[in-house]
Amino acid sequence: MLRVIIAGVGHYLPERVVTNYDLEKLMDTSDEWIRERTGIDERRWVREGETVSGLAYQATQMALERASLQPHDIDFIIFACMEADYEFPGGGCFLQEKLEIPGVPALDIRNQCSGFLYGLAIADQFIRMGTYKTILLIGSEIQSTSLDLTTRGRDMAVLFGDGAGAAILTASEDNNRGILTFCLHADGRYTKKLWGECPSVINHPRITADMLETERIYPQMDGRYVFKHAVTKFPEVIHEALQKTGYTMDDVALVVPHQANLRITEAVAQRLGIGMDKMYSNIHKYGNTTAATIPICLSEAWGEGRIKPGDLVALASFGSGFTWASALVRW
Ligand code: ACO
Repeated sequence: MLRVIIAGVGHYLPERVVTNYDLEKLMDTSDEWIRERTGIDERRWVREGETVSGLAYQATQMALERASLQPHDIDFIIFACMEADYEFPGGGCFLQEKLEIPGVPALDIRNQCSGFLYGLAIADQFIRMGTYKTILLIGSEIQSTSLDLTTRGRDMAVLFGDGAGAAILTASEDNNRGILTFCLHADGRYTKKLWGECPSVINHPRITADMLETERIYPQMDGRYVFKHAVTKFPEVIHEALQKTGYTMDDVALVVPHQANLRITEAVAQRLGIGMDKMYSNIHKYGNTTAATIPICLSEAWGEGRIKPGDLVALASFGSGFTWASALVRW
């Protein structure tokens, strides 16, 4: 059976470092509160003019180099992000222009924190069907420009960062390697527990001067509610993938969870019965970069030698929607 392997991973973070102390100057918060509740020390935020597709372009260069491929080898782009450079079109076309590969199809998906894993599942199907051979999968985000940087928005503002990760997916005849399974889920009953209400098509114009005065133009979250669901769904969806393939947690070399909050990752490790040495975490450096966290982690883990050929790696996500997902990959 044809399998889909991750032939190269890359990442890119904007240069501008924003520490918890920097945030103390903008809102009523403290380094201690942020570190204790989230595990975040600092995050990267873009400077004016940087774009989601621009971050993705840099991450793609690294992934291509590691896969020993060129842009013209890519025959399909899947671009996962919450919001791209502009209202439309999506980020895929802007990235494709930068890569100078006109004509290559570009699919934009919006599955928030689960975007990368939804994209991985799509890529798996296209490659195994023989439709495309080499797919570029992106998770790229600029969250910082959407945040309320006053005390009113502090629950969200301290969590999020900007960044991009890229994966090059290709086919392999080796049945023991690659994406072994994936599990995708969503539950629309919780759409408004973590969402961005405005601008919205239900208003004409979609954004008004009145709205600008309210918190409705910023992302909103019921933090405790999200936390409770996340710590249940992460282990559940990892166990689902293990059950489908007949593996156990003992077979897994590394779990790469979406980086929502270190407290969530720790609670998930505890529920899975594993130590934090088996859970990859880089949230202290980058915060939550939504669809980009998993590919950034994969890229760093691979670069640090934490993922080696033959390792069984479990990927898992939970986020707005709610959406949650997992994948088991034999590297
Ligand atoms: N600095 C200082 N105080 C703050 C901050 C802040 N940045 N944010 C909130 N507070 C205050 C609150 O106003 C509240 O004050 P009060 O007691 O006077 O009313 C107090 O701290 C406690 O607030 P809670 O919301 O109860 O704090 P909690 O312990 O739940 O932590 C947090 C908040 C960190 C957001 C937590 O709920 C959480 O991590 N939730 C998960 C959210 C998440 O990960 N979202 C990411 C997107 S979804 C995803 O990726 C899975």
